[in-house]
Amino acid sequence: MQQAIAILDSGVGGLTVAKEMMRQLPRESMIYFGDTARTPYGPRDLQEVRSFTHQIVDHLMTYNPKMIVIACNTATAAALDEITDKLDIPVIGVIHPGARAAISKASNGSIGVIGTQGTIDSGAYTHALEQISPFVNVVSRACPSFVPLVEQGHFDSRATYEIVKNELQPLRELPLDCLILGCTHYPFLADTIQRVMGPSVNLISSAEETAREVSTILYEKGQLEISDDIPQHTFLYTGASELFEKISKKWLAEYLTRTQSTWQNVSL
Ligand code: DGL
Repeated sequence: MQQAIAILDSGVGGLTVAKEMMRQLPRESMIYFGDTARTPYGPRDLQEVRSFTHQIVDHLMTYNPKMIVIACNTATAAALDEITDKLDIPVIGVIHPGARAAISKASNGSIGVIGTQGTIDSGAYTHALEQISPFVNVVSRACPSFVPLVEQGHFDSRATYEIVKNELQPLRELPLDCLILGCTHYPFLADTIQRVMGPSVNLISSAEETAREVSTILYEKGQLEISDDIPQHTFLYTGASELFEKISKKWLAEYLTRTQSTWQNVSL
């Protein structure tokens, strides 16, 4: 039995990271946890998000994973340090990978960050970016209406375009070089966000860099899966099933064909 990599988010957002992990690490089995009953995390107090994250991690640990990926920026801002201290397996979040990806792409140093209220208020991105480079100019904005749109599967309707345009209006007037999608739900809206921001703004998601970090850590620990066994993915969710299953099956379709995948409703 393969030891899986555990991934968690408030809902479907972490699937954007899971997809990239499946692309870069096709032999690995994954356990995904979407806390769809309590999404969104963004408007909640960080203390509450921290306690939710502990609960989910405790549940995931019963599956004996080899690593935990907190594929939620809000939970990363709230709980990464505590979870890392508490476990003796590797734990990573998505904020530092997102910051690194942006620095590697930014040419004029003007970086926009959009995220949930909790992530933006925590200042975690500004801190992570400034830790890497003293030359960046960071402009942040919370976009509270985006996560509910994604959880409902409204990725590219006319109404979604109008909401996205409205929310990003203040950023459209700035000479931004790149825009960090500082919430793992936002890559579902990437086409709409790109249309609103225009082709000159480089959209940055943390997924690629996070998957690369997972790969590096497992390689260094000698824990990369090398067998040709069929990967087994388990998708756990706490809320109603239809939308979560539908969105995950569609979003990950190309990576689920040669796997054994199961969906399961759980309560914590
Ligand atoms: N996808 C999560 C994030 O990256 C959580 C969004 C939410 O639940 O508000 O922050």
